[in-house]
Amino acid sequence: MTIVTCDRMWNAAITEPHPVTVRPMSRLADTGLFLREFVKDPLHTAAVAPSSPTLAAAMTGPLPAAGEPVVVELGPGTGAFTEAIQRHTGGRCRHIAVELHPGWAELLRERHPGVDVVLGDVRDLATILADRGVTSVDAVVSGLPWVAYVPSPGGRPLHTVITDVLAPTGVFTQFAYTWTRWAPPARRQLADLRAHFADVVISRPVWRNLPPAVVYEARKPQPTSRT
Ligand SMILES: C[S@@+](CC[C@H](N)C(=O)[O-])C[C@H]1O[C@@H](n2cnc3c(N)ncnc32)[C@H](O)[C@@H]1O
Repeated sequence: MTIVTCDRMWNAAITEPHPVTVRPMSRLADTGLFLREFVKDPLHTAAVAPSSPTLAAAMTGPLPAAGEPVVVELGPGTGAFTEAIQRHTGGRCRHIAVELHPGWAELLRERHPGVDVVLGDVRDLATILADRGVTSVDAVVSGLPWVAYVPSPGGRPLHTVITDVLAPTGVFTQFAYTWTRWAPPARRQLADLRAHFADVVISRPVWRNLPPAVVYEARKPQPTSRT
């Protein structure tokens, strides 16, 4: 079975929406992929199943639904949030998704031909955006694990790259599993978020997710390079 959606290819030359065929997500099959990858690389995979549609809705609800926003997705995995971003924006966003896992990047390209899927490390985000001429982003949706926030030696912390490119009215969302929220790396991640955004709201737990999670919704970025 195929699903036809109305993704819009972001291309200056193409301005009208066009239909694309998307290989449908199967949560069961994707959970199998996650379990296998979790056994191989628990630190980067960081989950035993893709996020649920309920968590995806909570992560993407704060995004602008009107206009043609620029959305950057970090760690899209098998596309739980990718799908939700496309639906929320009616396929009208410029959507750049950065994924480390080659197989998942390829799967995402197949499922969402209208999304600019970058096979790469978020630690290279500044270059990835500069290469595309992106200087202002309306929303960043992150499914990243803690480890992805550790900068490479001499590299810039990811939060500063994000706040430097996020529009003053922009929003950043990140989830955290409720049962590991009090572990030191998770506390550091939240403290870091509060240091880089003037406004951080924590959602109620989303119980319909394996495991349950909360969403951090961060606004009013405090950029280091723009004053
Ligand atoms: C917890 S999974 C979340 C996947 C998906 N967003 C979801 O919620 O179902 C973390 C994802 O981040 C990706 N990832 C981890 N480190 C990364 C990095 N440094 N750069 C890009 N992606 C990374 C992993 O490959 C994986 O797809």
